[in-house]
Amino acid sequence: MTGEFNPETIVFFENRLTALSEARVGILTHALNFGTGVFEGIRGYWNEPENQLFLMRPREHFLRWKQNCGILRIEVPLSVAELGELTAGLLRRNGYRGDVYIKPLAYKSSQRIGIHMDDQNAFAIVPMPAPAYLDSSQGLHAGVTSWRRIEDNAIPGRGKICGSYVNGVLASDEARRNGFDEAILLTEAGHVAEAASSNIFLVRRGKLITPPASENILEGITRDSVMELARKELRLEVVERPVDRSELYVCDEMFFTGTMVEVAPVVRVDHRPVGSGQIGPVTAELRHLYTQAAHGRLEAWRQWLMPVYEPVANFSVGSAV
Ligand SMILES: Cc1ncc(COP(=O)(O)O)c(C=O)c1O
Repeated sequence: MTGEFNPETIVFFENRLTALSEARVGILTHALNFGTGVFEGIRGYWNEPENQLFLMRPREHFLRWKQNCGILRIEVPLSVAELGELTAGLLRRNGYRGDVYIKPLAYKSSQRIGIHMDDQNAFAIVPMPAPAYLDSSQGLHAGVTSWRRIEDNAIPGRGKICGSYVNGVLASDEARRNGFDEAILLTEAGHVAEAASSNIFLVRRGKLITPPASENILEGITRDSVMELARKELRLEVVERPVDRSELYVCDEMFFTGTMVEVAPVVRVDHRPVGSGQIGPVTAELRHLYTQAAHGRLEAWRQWLMPVYEPVANFSVGSAV
């Protein structure tokens, strides 16, 4: 993801709205030195006919964020509903009328020497126009990296903890330098975990297969959406089970899922074609369904979305908060 950030973007930082150019942290900040932050990534999709911006599953993202913050003993002092309201307000203030990306970040904010944690925390929410990301329109060539996926007992991968992303950074750097578009990481036990910043699915003999949460994956919200769409719209059997590396070479279809990559077909893996070497029919259908749902074009899935340009009273939070 590259891109110019508008320094005048209104962001939430240190409990107030401020310009992005003013949202700065000091060099001794704990999170900067030790990776003690927890972040999220949320997308909003512009629906032109409705003149509306829809946030994709903000409730799930904010709930995951709050829960993950608990791993680092960071308390985000707002409810899921309040975070949704704050974010929608930010988007309106910035007047976005196009696809957006929102980055919530909570972090250990004390400035001092020493790794021990204290209770000084801060959080920020930074919105931006959706940045360009990996172009998967023609299908990706993925490579298994020599770096292994971090173990839950080292740094919990499900936590979206800033420091843990060194794992994905090393993996994707190696993959790109070796001529691949993206890296696939194995666990220490040698099973397929996920890609550097997305989850992985295979199609084999008509079933959709993905590694379970216990394989050190990030429990992706796109992963969950795709499993629901596959089950309910395509009547596909979805199986969460350990996946061997060699299954990557014999499967019929493969794709990655993530807020940024959405549903990204993989057509080659480790210099071998995936199935026919073309984007497969299940992948194509799921990609289409996901795009339609995220833009609010499928009535049955509008419950996932939060409209930004309507009263926030419509943002129901259920009983989870
Ligand atoms: C390591 C990792 N795995 C998977 C995902 C996909 O998760 P989600 O679909 O919630 O964006 C992401 C992206 O957030 C990620 O960083």
